[in-house]
Amino acid sequence: MMAPELQSPSPEALAALLDWYVANDVDVAIEEEAVNRLVARVAEEPAPTHRAMPASFDAEPRPQPQPTIATALSPEAEVLAAREAAAGAATLDALKDALARFEGCALKTTAKSLVFSQGNPTARVMLVGDPPGRDEDLQGEPFVGQTGPLVDRMLAAIGLSRAEVYLANIVPWRPPGNRTPTPQETATCRPFLDRQIELVDPDYLVCLGPMAAKELLPTTEGLLRMRGQWFPYDTGKRQIQAMATLHPSYLLLQPLQKRLVWRDLLVLRTAMDAKTA
Ligand code: URA
Repeated sequence: MMAPELQSPSPEALAALLDWYVANDVDVAIEEEAVNRLVARVAEEPAPTHRAMPASFDAEPRPQPQPTIATALSPEAEVLAAREAAAGAATLDALKDALARFEGCALKTTAKSLVFSQGNPTARVMLVGDPPGRDEDLQGEPFVGQTGPLVDRMLAAIGLSRAEVYLANIVPWRPPGNRTPTPQETATCRPFLDRQIELVDPDYLVCLGPMAAKELLPTTEGLLRMRGQWFPYDTGKRQIQAMATLHPSYLLLQPLQKRLVWRDLLVLRTAMDAKTA
């Protein structure tokens, strides 16, 4: 029996598929396993299209292509390189520059922008979100997408504005397709976040969402159990108070849970008022 002939999809069908991708926020093709694109880039060097010149013709030794830092370093060395780069930054601007130059994290290769921070660098309250999303990647600032207005309303509910707090993310590059960063990616970015917290030196650290909470707070409890409680947090300069609350994008899906976040925000406001009283 003859195999049925495969028809190419019509231009209309392809356009409809593309529309569907856009409508569903599909903007990157991903696989189950995270791909280290820095390694792939070296492996995919195009094969030479002409025969190599015999060595005897070539008087000058040719420089050999150098692997990028990600292929040259082990995961431990990647973290060490990040620690060194972060420790060498004396100011937040220098830290941002160091991150922009850092080639040790594969997330950077698929992201459009470095999403470093927004707000007041001398704020009393620092909020750390989960990874940036598509809008943040396009604009290079945290919480500027769908969740942005809700973050502003949450802050306004306790008399704060975005300009009065400092906002950052657990990793400063959007993972492709909004996947969860791998433990290695988070570990590599962590020294930069630690230094960022040390340089801002806030009185209160608020983790927005489960990834930031899991990474920064000393508890293995789920977010719904541990939210709204203070934990000690060592910034490197001093001990401050840290808590976690629910992520704004979760609240967009589960608006009834806003009452829990309201309670958490009141705990923050009460602590701030007690300190200034
Ligand atoms: N969610 C986050 O946690 N951070 C952002 O910057 C945007 C969405």
